[in-house]
Amino acid sequence: MEALKISQCFLLWFMCSTVLFLNALQPCFAFTSFVFGDSLVDAGNNDYIFTLSKADSPPYGIDFKPSGGHPTGRFTNGRTISDIVGQAFGAKSFPPPYLAPNTQANSILGGINYASGASGILDETGVLFIGRVPLREQINNFEHSRSYMVKVMGEKTTMEFLKKAIFSVTIGSNDFLNYFQPTIPVFGNGKVSPNLFQDFMVSNLTIHLKRLHLLGARKFIVVGVGPLGCIPFIRAIKLLPSGHCSAVVNELIQGYNTKLNGVLDKLNQELGPEAIFIYANSFDIFMKIIGNYHQYGFEDANEPCCGGYFPPFICFKSSGTNRSSALCADRSKYVFWDAYHPTEAANMIIAKGLIDGDESVSYPINIRELYKYNS
Ligand SMILES: *[C@@H]1O[C@H](CO)[C@@H](O)[C@H](O)[C@H]1NC(C)=O
Ligand SMILES: *[C@@H]1O[C@H](CO)[C@@H](O)[C@H](O)[C@H]1NC(C)=O
Repeated sequence: MEALKISQCFLLWFMCSTVLFLNALQPCFAFTSFVFGDSLVDAGNNDYIFTLSKADSPPYGIDFKPSGGHPTGRFTNGRTISDIVGQAFGAKSFPPPYLAPNTQANSILGGINYASGASGILDETGVLFIGRVPLREQINNFEHSRSYMVKVMGEKTTMEFLKKAIFSVTIGSNDFLNYFQPTIPVFGNGKVSPNLFQDFMVSNLTIHLKRLHLLGARKFIVVGVGPLGCIPFIRAIKLLPSGHCSAVVNELIQGYNTKLNGVLDKLNQELGPEAIFIYANSFDIFMKIIGNYHQYGFEDANEPCCGGYFPPFICFKSSGTNRSSALCADRSKYVFWDAYHPTEAANMIIAKGLIDGDESVSYPINIRELYKYNS
């Protein structure tokens, strides 16, 4: 099975790289995406580093069909938002984790996943988890992949190839989670003001996006931070009654998202139309799901399906003993998989919203339009 997959990839690679390379790309690889971000989109990178942030044991991945329900390092029961978007555009496989052995040689044309659980925009974020790949290093890793591409197909073809690829960046949640945890010092002992913290995040992210642009990225999806004030973890540490979200947390995030949207607008003016930056408003889509969960087919928008409603929120299953954590009966009826992450069912609604949504959820164009976008 594994050997077959590799030889198929090689065959595609061979066809694509020899026969009219650029024209052959479209039929060979319908959708190329380079994925950056945190545990919302990590496809297994953290399995290869020493870290406390790992999703390498059951029941993580229980609904992930390609692995037969085995954990893959994804921090949910099934597919991530970026998996679902790729499939919607005909991707035959998911971009593999950069840190997995042989990723570079086998799969560069379909894209690569650089995302890492516990990571953030700021380098300091996630330090309590020990290992994680901060956004800056994720881009260093992409730079290595890019050098490899240039070696194989030359600078000009690499630039043409990257121009068509989609670069998604889903990050920022962990910066906020660190900021809101009383035990974690943020920049020394005294916390910076919320306003300054948002500015640090936005300006650092801008630097990273510009660097990706210099390396040849042109089509960007930048996902805003979701309503963390509503996730089970924040509800629990803020001691909120069932069904309530933390307004303080959500307001700080909305302030950040507004600043981010403004910066992306400016980047579009400065670097467009050759480059385009989409602001993906996952915040509003997620709030709509939580507020109307029955209409979306959910029965619970409050408790996580796995790991329970109270700290320490450990979601695990050990075979043979009774020490497993409780798992809900029907995973498709829960918005939250664990205390931090949405279920695949929720991811599907968010992905669909971003693919075909109007300007209020995907600005200035949606992902379907981005896919077709040719400057
Ligand atoms: C990036 O964030 C750090 C804090 O992590 C801050 O000291 C620095 O000023 C920020 N850089 C920019 C360009 O805003
Ligand atoms: C697990 O619990 C069930 C019922 O609560 C019991 O019948 C079974 O013997 C337990 N298994 C082990 C390995 O302890």
